[in-house]
Amino acid sequence: MKFFIDTANLDQIREANDLGVLDGVTTNPSLMAKEGISGTERVRKHYVDICSIVDGDVSAEVIATDYEGIIKEGEELAKLHKNIVVKVPMIRDGIKAIKYFTQKGIRTNCTLVFSAGQALLAAKAGATYVSPFIGRLDDVSTDGLALIEDIRTIYDNYGYDTEILAASVRHPMHIIDCAKIGADVATCPLSAIVALLKHPLTDSGLAQFLADHAKAAAK
Ligand code: E4P
Repeated sequence: MKFFIDTANLDQIREANDLGVLDGVTTNPSLMAKEGISGTERVRKHYVDICSIVDGDVSAEVIATDYEGIIKEGEELAKLHKNIVVKVPMIRDGIKAIKYFTQKGIRTNCTLVFSAGQALLAAKAGATYVSPFIGRLDDVSTDGLALIEDIRTIYDNYGYDTEILAASVRHPMHIIDCAKIGADVATCPLSAIVALLKHPLTDSGLAQFLADHAKAAAK
């Protein structure tokens, strides 16, 4: 299972990368805005900065919502760095654009996916990744993990290569459940990745080992 970090914060990206388990980064316009990054040039420079930290796929989202606009913006984003994956919303012109990018060899991440039907369309268009937002589904009392299961079944039935990128991950159990189901990737906040480290028995066991070692050394 691949781990991506879901942020545009460079310090958090560095921290996750330093752990040695990071495979990529996802961003979105809201995450960019949260870091105070705005304007086409600044946003694009920020993508390049992220690519210089992480040797893995970095999703860069288009702002355009019409076919021509998505194509133009996506082609420009793809030229920024070899690791850029063009993130395209699940809308009619988005699906058409994903098909175009697929034929041109430009990798894509189909975002804002909330149903199995949308995920099927993304795979048929040849998306590299599909991003079902499980936390946002949970937020409206709908089972986000059930969607991951449905997509896994559908993709396995037909051997689609599109990778399931579980997005809108909120906590470590989301990551573990996605791993059990067989999501290819989870994109997570740093807090959820770090939370995987924690177990009180690890802490108490280590404290005991170190205390016993110190006692033996003092004899
Ligand atoms: C995915 O690529 C999105 O950036 C992200 O996971 C959305 O998460 P949120 O629902 O926490 O905003």
